[in-house]
Amino acid sequence: MLNQEGFDLWSKDYDSAVAQSSQNNSYPFAGYSEVLNTIYRSIRRAEKGNVLDIGFGTAALTSQLYKDGYRITGIDFSKEMIETAQSKMPEAELIQYDFSKGLPASLKNRSFDFIVGTYSFHHVPTEIRPDFFGKLSRHLNPGGRILVGDILFPSAKEYAACKAKFKDIWDPDEIYFTADEFCPLLLKQGLDCRCQQISFCSGVLSISPLPAPSGTA
Ligand SMILES: C[S@@+](CC[C@H](N)C(=O)[O-])C[C@H]1O[C@@H](n2cnc3c(N)ncnc32)[C@H](O)[C@@H]1O
Repeated sequence: MLNQEGFDLWSKDYDSAVAQSSQNNSYPFAGYSEVLNTIYRSIRRAEKGNVLDIGFGTAALTSQLYKDGYRITGIDFSKEMIETAQSKMPEAELIQYDFSKGLPASLKNRSFDFIVGTYSFHHVPTEIRPDFFGKLSRHLNPGGRILVGDILFPSAKEYAACKAKFKDIWDPDEIYFTADEFCPLLLKQGLDCRCQQISFCSGVLSISPLPAPSGTA
């Protein structure tokens, strides 16, 4: 698992490393472009609004939305990634912060139409993930959604098969999403979670608050 300095060092080569893994249809980035495009299309279907990108990296996704006129706020702990992203999105509000601690104080009372994280949320420790998403959902505007694009498997079976196939390059410190285990945990947080598998090791989770039971609204 890379820390802040690791991502600082990786920032210059990040886009080319991702492109190579994606083109080779290899773990970890097989399906990367389609993951980002799926999220991009979901957001574009809605009226223009504001987007919070958690772990934006080189801003591959949000720089496009920025050009389209969306208001972008972002969190990342890598100074180098922030510099790269800010050069593409001069007016975006980019905050250096460790999101495993939740949201920074400056965003405490803010809400968003979309909260996105691509290849970043697997850095949230598994034991706090359901609670993390529960708290994050309180920062959604009515009708808003959290969109997670990440290394993701339908179940433990596909996870184990990918790990065995890519054992030489597997990162043992990272723990990825399995949709059949993770989505039910979000129900307890009052959240609906839909999974769209994109490649053998990637997918998109669309997370939104469940409607309030009738008679309680
Ligand atoms: C694999 S990159 C993904 C970048 C981009 N979202 C994409 O799809 O290409 C993960 C990003 O999350 C950031 N990151 C990882 N853990 C973090 C943490 N705990 N707090 C803040 N940023 C973090 C890294 O600095 C990096 O920019």
